Amino acid sequence: MTTVIVGTGIAGLVCALAHPDPEDVLVLTKADPSASNTFAAQGGIAAVTNPPAPGDSIASHVADTLTAGAGLCEAEAVQTLCGDGPDRIADLIAAGVPFDRTPDGDLSRGLEAAHSVARILHAGGDATGAGIAEALLRAVAERGIEVRGHTLVTELITDGGHVRGVRVLTSGGAGSDGAGSDGSESHGAIGAGVVQEIQADAVVLATGGAGQLYPYTSNPDVATADGVALAARAGAVLTDLEFYQFHPTTLALPGNFLVSEAVRGEGAVLRDSAGSRFMIGVHPDAELAPRDVVARGVADRMRETGAPVVLDATRLGDRLARRFPSIDAAVRSAGLDWAREPVPITPAAHYWMGGVATDLAGRTSIPGLYAVGEVARTGVHGANRLASNSLLEGAVFGHRAALSLTDSISLSHTPALDVADQNDPAITTEHPAGATVSGARADLQRVMWDAVGLGRDDDGLAQAEETLAGWAAAGVRSRTSAEHETANLLLVARLMARAARARTGSAGAHFRTDDAHMLETAS
Ligand code: SIN
Repeated sequence: MTTVIVGTGIAGLVCALAHPDPEDVLVLTKADPSASNTFAAQGGIAAVTNPPAPGDSIASHVADTLTAGAGLCEAEAVQTLCGDGPDRIADLIAAGVPFDRTPDGDLSRGLEAAHSVARILHAGGDATGAGIAEALLRAVAERGIEVRGHTLVTELITDGGHVRGVRVLTSGGAGSDGAGSDGSESHGAIGAGVVQEIQADAVVLATGGAGQLYPYTSNPDVATADGVALAARAGAVLTDLEFYQFHPTTLALPGNFLVSEAVRGEGAVLRDSAGSRFMIGVHPDAELAPRDVVARGVADRMRETGAPVVLDATRLGDRLARRFPSIDAAVRSAGLDWAREPVPITPAAHYWMGGVATDLAGRTSIPGLYAVGEVARTGVHGANRLASNSLLEGAVFGHRAALSLTDSISLSHTPALDVADQNDPAITTEHPAGATVSGARADLQRVMWDAVGLGRDDDGLAQAEETLAGWAAAGVRSRTSAEHETANLLLVARLMARAARARTGSAGAHFRTDDAHMLETAS
């Protein structure tokens, strides 16, 4: 079963490692293999281990995940996520992930928002994602699996309703002068790259998220919604696109470096310009309330006071540098001494709960097409993801998809695909004509932040839909990788705005400021 896996985050790499036939696997990534949301992840991976931490259980992890999801998680999916956790952590340890340990050699476990027990595993303090990605990339190389970088998938090839391969745009040296080592066909140069077709029995999208829809994001530059755009064009069912999570604490400085929730888990607090801990009045768990509640609390306070909100981690003092070395370096390189003074923070786009609808084996609505990790919508997150469940999701569903590719295990086909199809085949996929790519992207990001951000209302969403549709109508054909990415963002922005407009009530991260029920409750 020749399999193309698109993406080198935890979901794609675990899928590659668990594939029964490594010689039949080709992993593609549009940039360097280390450029992924996984690599950037600080907070850790939430999981019950075997044996569990004192007081922890799979039932407790399930309960926390369901609560954070605002009643919209799919129970069977959550049970699968949490239930498979101990085995996937054991796999990661076997693959060489250097999880932090106590002086006694036990796994160290941290607490994060909305977890009832300290169950978050870290590596290198706050460099968990890098520890995982490096170990998995090494393991993939040791298994002889080919990873081809700088190769952007621009289209899924379908035949008779079945995905049969991918069309790619290769930049740089690899495969740029004719047929590839896998027998792929070259179709000539376009711009700086070469277009090729690669045939496959199965294509697994593990392309990650869409933070570049917004001007402020914790995500790296590569997070341009590519997988959802590819699946949408091929006609796959997409679900819950309106559920986009904003992280409450990124540095309020260019680049929006993430200040992990784990810092609040260790005791840091949020203060407004008067020094008040305003989150105490918002939620009983204050700074450790579910992420959507804290993000909105911060944004509301910033708007009400017209002044920055700060993260006060001074009570952690010199421990900050030891426990959070990467964040410490980033904060200090911005000229701030967070051990002695509070630092300005702001919410930023972080994680997409919606995406390509899949069952619990990664199968989408199109035969031959799979989706795993952030690009997929399995139902595990509902309307709001629990902190540090994303790396676990990648490991669990990457593994399950690999096994289901050859049907070597029997996995249930859940009803996730019964939901309404949010695609609109009439939506065109081009980027704004006449504009530079960076200019076009900045305009799109501003529209998304203002209208499809932390608070949404019908007027703003209608206006956003109209503006985005106007740009699409004036579109031109994408030629370079950057143009393809912007076209992907534009298509997905339109789908997300439409989905947000269709859900007229608030739920989790989707907050409608014109929600009649909420307005009634507040008055
Ligand atoms: C964080 O470290 O706060 C982010 C972790 C996550 O998104 O789960």
